[in-house]
Amino acid sequence: MKGIVLAGGAGTRLYPLTIAVSKQLLPVYDKPMIYYPISVLMLAGIRQILIITTPEDQDSFKKLLGDGTALGCEFQYEIQAAPNGLAEAFIIGEKFIGDDKVALVLGDNIFYGNGLSKLLQSKTSIDGGAIFAYPVRDPERFGVVTFDENNKATSIEEKPESPQSNYAVPGLYFYDNDVVEIAKSITPSARGEKEITAINQVYLSQGRLEVVVMSRGMSWFDTGTVDALDDATEFIRVLQRNQSTMISCLEEIAYKMSWITYDMLKGSAVRYGKGSYATYINTL
Ligand code: DAU
Repeated sequence: MKGIVLAGGAGTRLYPLTIAVSKQLLPVYDKPMIYYPISVLMLAGIRQILIITTPEDQDSFKKLLGDGTALGCEFQYEIQAAPNGLAEAFIIGEKFIGDDKVALVLGDNIFYGNGLSKLLQSKTSIDGGAIFAYPVRDPERFGVVTFDENNKATSIEEKPESPQSNYAVPGLYFYDNDVVEIAKSITPSARGEKEITAINQVYLSQGRLEVVVMSRGMSWFDTGTVDALDDATEFIRVLQRNQSTMISCLEEIAYKMSWITYDMLKGSAVRYGKGSYATYINTL
């Protein structure tokens, strides 16, 4: 399975923070936001990752992440000329995806919790589509899903005025290779975007959309607003201080996956100077 991080968009809800800087490069406590979604793909065991950005931000992402060699991964880059919708990721990524299955994670989504790696790894051989369901207080802000006792989706709507459940769909999706053709076939919504929800509706109509409920032990943040960004920062700060482990340290994940050697791990700390991120790598 290949992975895509969609890190474009204008980030207007965070202005003035994002007038000059890409949202997905903003700090979430001690590391750039994009480290978190990349860590999710890596924990799923995915090493070939396409990072889609706006044209003007691509160089900054390349400067930060390089070609992935230092993490035992392969990072490729593409641009999205305008925020035409999440589903466009599969059209932009068609060549990269080739004949493989693909996971998409939104560049502003953060996941953390007990059993996350196992859960992710269990979806990498998906036949059809797999999405997640996370109970929230304000489902009308998200894609909203209902499902039956066999965890098959029964309805999915994008930002409904009257949600049929309180289960939001987080920005993490696993699909088989059909997704590329499905993405091409859907038409833009009233807000002019190729919606990921429209892709999910196609899989649902085929009876091939699995819903995985994220339980209490799991935390999910969509950092699209100033308050949500602040909540995520606070969450990471408190958890890291209490547990003295780091959330989404990419080098640690790569090392534990045996994708890089001990010497590469040690060497990687040098790049991070004298800060807490480097100190943490040195403690490993
Ligand atoms: O966060 C989960 C939600 O993400 C889902 O529940 C919704 O079903 C899904 O549509 C999406 O809703 P949002 O309103 O949060 O999407 P937003 O337009 O904010 O875009 C999410 C991220 O993707 C954001 O970091 C910007 C980036 N993006 C967005 C669009 C529309 C792109 O890179 N390209 C795009 O074309």
